[in-house]
Amino acid sequence: MEERELGRTGERVPALGIGTWQLGSDHAAAVESLKEGMHLGMRFIDTAEMYHTEGIVGEAIKGEEVFLATKVSPEHFRYADVKKACNESLKRLGVKQIDLYQLHWPNRRVPISETMKAMEELVKEGKIRYIGVSNFSIEDINEANACLKNNEIVSNQVQYSLAAREIERELAKFCNKEGITIIAYSPLARGSLLAKSHGNMDLLRVIGERHGKSAAQVALNWVASKDNTIAIPKAGRLEHMRENAKVLDFKLEKKEIEELENFFRDYVNRGFVEFGKELAKGNSAILGKLVSFRERMRQKPKKAA
Ligand SMILES: NC(=O)c1ccc[n+]([C@@H]2O[C@H](COP(=O)([O-])OP(=O)(O)OC[C@H]3O[C@@H](n4cnc5c(N)ncnc54)[C@H](OP(=O)(O)O)[C@@H]3O)[C@@H](O)[C@H]2O)c1
Repeated sequence: MEERELGRTGERVPALGIGTWQLGSDHAAAVESLKEGMHLGMRFIDTAEMYHTEGIVGEAIKGEEVFLATKVSPEHFRYADVKKACNESLKRLGVKQIDLYQLHWPNRRVPISETMKAMEELVKEGKIRYIGVSNFSIEDINEANACLKNNEIVSNQVQYSLAAREIERELAKFCNKEGITIIAYSPLARGSLLAKSHGNMDLLRVIGERHGKSAAQVALNWVASKDNTIAIPKAGRLEHMRENAKVLDFKLEKKEIEELENFFRDYVNRGFVEFGKELAKGNSAILGKLVSFRERMRQKPKKAA
């Protein structure tokens, strides 16, 4: 398995990890799938207190060597809450130490200095090894880093796939320059990249056939081949997990990469056109999708406790 350096830590981690959001409707199958992924080299597992999958992960990693990442939820960013949330995650995961502890989303209602104080103490106490963030902008990262005395932010987990390339505008360049690893979530756009209805499958499939690979493997290769990037697809199904572990043993041609990027640029634009049509038809419910959890959290900070 290809590896990447995590931040500037010198620690090598697999370029392909495993996501666990919405994993677990079948507990035993989920554990089996995680074990299979680890045995195939995907020894980076991402979970979060918010996913309610830390118990499943804990069961799957017993006796395994793995790099374990989890997240503290924004509603637990007050000093005492961070400490408590970490202890609870450790208990659910059945480990003494979390490798990478990430702030799940920015929370403007809690001063970041307060959250980071608790994070640094957790490192000192040996409960976590590295501090990461998720869904943080450049400004958020700079603010958070400025509060750290003995550590630095090693990673930013963000949405990144052929269908979601916003980070390429500025954030990815910034992270690459600062030595902050990009952990790409929803690398298959939650499976929608593979939806037959949009015609995208055809291009991914045709390119895949040239390399003896599936459409999903092409889409994941595109993400996980990027410098400084780790992709964390989620796969509840064993056959998906097996496919995902074999994503970096081929190289897309420059021309194929261009073809994919051009097609999906248009695909995203077509999505906006469809969105506009829905609005024009009076389907205002679709607007609700724009009001994200992150926006709700981006409110004025309260005074430090
Ligand atoms: N930090 C954040 O805010 C945030 C937000 C979202 C996600 N994440 C993390 O990123 C992880 C991955 O993102 P995601 O779960 O949103 O979506 P994803 O990994 O882009 O897509 C998962 C979907 O793709 C399917 N799939 C996986 N491998 C496949 C294959 N080889 N062929 C066909 N279909 C395949 C899965 O099906 P099956 O499950 O049926 O196999 C599932 O339906 C999450 O699990 C979570 O750990 C983080």
